[in-house]
Amino acid sequence: MDDRWIRWPQQTTAGRDRLVGFGGDYNPEQWDESVWREDARLMVEAGVNLVTVGVFAWSALQPAPDRWEFGWLDRVMDLMADHGIAVDLATATASTPSWVTTLHPDVLAVDRFGHTMAQGGRQAWSPSSRVYRRLSLELVHRMAERYGSHPALALWHVSNELGGHNAHCYGEEAARAFRTWLRERYGDSIQRLNDAWQTLVWSQRYADWEEIQPPRATFTDPNPSQLLDFERFSSDQLRAQLRAEAAVLRRATPDIPITTNLILFDAGKRMAYSTWTDDLDIVSSDHYLQPVRDAHPEAEFSADRARGLADGRPWMLMETAPGQTSWRRVNPAKRSGQLRRDVFSYIARGSDTVCFFQWRAARAGAERFHSAMLPHGGPDTDAFRDVVALGRDLARCAELAGSVVEADCALVLSEESWWALERADHPHNGLSATETLLAWHRALTDLGATVDVVPPTADLGRYPLVVVPQLYLVDDADAERIAAVARDGGTVVIGSFSGIVDEFDHVRLGGYPGAFRDLLGLRVEQFWPLLDDETVVLDGLGTDGRARRWAEVIATEGARVEATLLDGDLAGGPAVTRMRHGETGSAWYVGAELDGDSLGALFRRILADQGLALPLVSSPALRVVTRVSTDGDRFHVLINHSGVDETVVADGTDLLDGSSHAGTVTVPAGAVRVLRGSLSREPLAAVTAG
Ligand code: GAL
Repeated sequence: MDDRWIRWPQQTTAGRDRLVGFGGDYNPEQWDESVWREDARLMVEAGVNLVTVGVFAWSALQPAPDRWEFGWLDRVMDLMADHGIAVDLATATASTPSWVTTLHPDVLAVDRFGHTMAQGGRQAWSPSSRVYRRLSLELVHRMAERYGSHPALALWHVSNELGGHNAHCYGEEAARAFRTWLRERYGDSIQRLNDAWQTLVWSQRYADWEEIQPPRATFTDPNPSQLLDFERFSSDQLRAQLRAEAAVLRRATPDIPITTNLILFDAGKRMAYSTWTDDLDIVSSDHYLQPVRDAHPEAEFSADRARGLADGRPWMLMETAPGQTSWRRVNPAKRSGQLRRDVFSYIARGSDTVCFFQWRAARAGAERFHSAMLPHGGPDTDAFRDVVALGRDLARCAELAGSVVEADCALVLSEESWWALERADHPHNGLSATETLLAWHRALTDLGATVDVVPPTADLGRYPLVVVPQLYLVDDADAERIAAVARDGGTVVIGSFSGIVDEFDHVRLGGYPGAFRDLLGLRVEQFWPLLDDETVVLDGLGTDGRARRWAEVIATEGARVEATLLDGDLAGGPAVTRMRHGETGSAWYVGAELDGDSLGALFRRILADQGLALPLVSSPALRVVTRVSTDGDRFHVLINHSGVDETVVADGTDLLDGSSHAGTVTVPAGAVRVLRGSLSREPLAAVTAG
């Protein structure tokens, strides 16, 4: 057996060659052992250097309460070590064996209608189950003891997509745990809870903790403050599982890094990941693109969020699909060149790893039609050849590993505000934080800016520009942190219906947007939700833009009007304002939901007005992101999403094809380049004209 250790993240291991991680979920327990040798051989052929093993292996490892079968996993670990492939070893706690739920039915999660989930799918356990906690930690302990010093072990993978299906449990044990959590939060004072939930509304007042339930199904919408606390509690319960598993692992193997794969889109909205990252040695993310043409802006958003959660450090793309998924209504295959462009969208934005679900396509089970690195057709397929080519590409980019992304600005995303906005009982119940966040992120990215997507608790002071697309709910501390950016000479841009409620979802009184009135120098007198077929023409942004869904009656109190509503009931009223702070500080307010063109025009003006370096502007279809190594090497990842060639002003060597460039670099239609060298942020036309 090869005794070399392969550690992740690679750059933390002194003296080792750099490496971009490449591989995927490997589920050998679903196959006859005779297949494993072929797996290992083809993994080597594809350049695979990292596999995640054991995610759903609990029932194979512990088929009965007192029976442990580690032999097969021993052989898999040895096989991987023999082939120089590192293992991201799952703790295998993601899905319980059926003996667990047969012996302990209370482990099963319950939905808000009181339906108990059944064994037979996956992740059916309640995050509040103490039996589950005990049994899962016993498994983790055995895994750590048995494999802690195995040469293939590179990284621990706690559970899998914690909360992906079972984030909210409404059963009796969860209710008890919720009460305990609330007692702690409210200092054991039922009066404080009644105040926080304003329980005199609709006669909900509680006299005793035992009366409190999780927000189970009700005829009307439940108490929003109760909902919010339940969401916080639910995220904390999952984090507690992460912490408990991590504690066992750290005791046994203090030198092995720990991750858990976060879901940075879709179901991941249910978790307050920004409160989890302290427990991780490296952030890893799963992202499955929506089945739409040109989905790359979503990949970019999710990657920028992973980097924001990682506080700028390199992170891991732990799962994505090499081709189609199988759980959406239509699951399109990737078009020619798309795999490469998608994968480099994550690499450009700070991932040091590209892993897929999964290595070998399943022949059975719910995911038998999900794409894999090795498809049903075997190695003699274009799909596998693309994977092999990708492995070669990533190997050529090894020196990129460990470098950090150079960002131009920050976009603030608050998980709690996201929860609070995207539920009922608002002036417009079609507002979508998701859509707003994506639209603002895309407008900046289309201009060439690189955007860190960060929680409000991040160090915002290090960015010259901070945009806050949607922050309906904000506490005083976060509001103050955002205001400080403008007061200290930076630029803040805040979107409509932000700063409206405090951390209990209580409206801030005295005029909207309570948390930001002074910062923005205005008062919103009246929300003006627009009907579905209504739009309002905007004036002052230099485009034929329109607002839809949302406008406001705004009275300025010091702010200058930068754009107005041109028609409709509010004609002549402000749509965009700007309040100056000191010599250079500015706080902009966008009091209507702008379309993409208007947002683009607005950000172009803001960047120019503030004297911020205008990022590279060639075509929005050409994405350019720069990563910088500790030695000062600059790597520019250029991805051309268009059907025409694009040229930029740059010198350097393309790591992918070894070509050298002086003066200009052309990125052919649909192609990717990773250029080590220098690159001008000016568009080619400007440089040649000058
Ligand atoms: C993820 C999950 C994987 C696999 C994949 C398919 O959410 O972690 O186990 O199911 O989706 O897209």
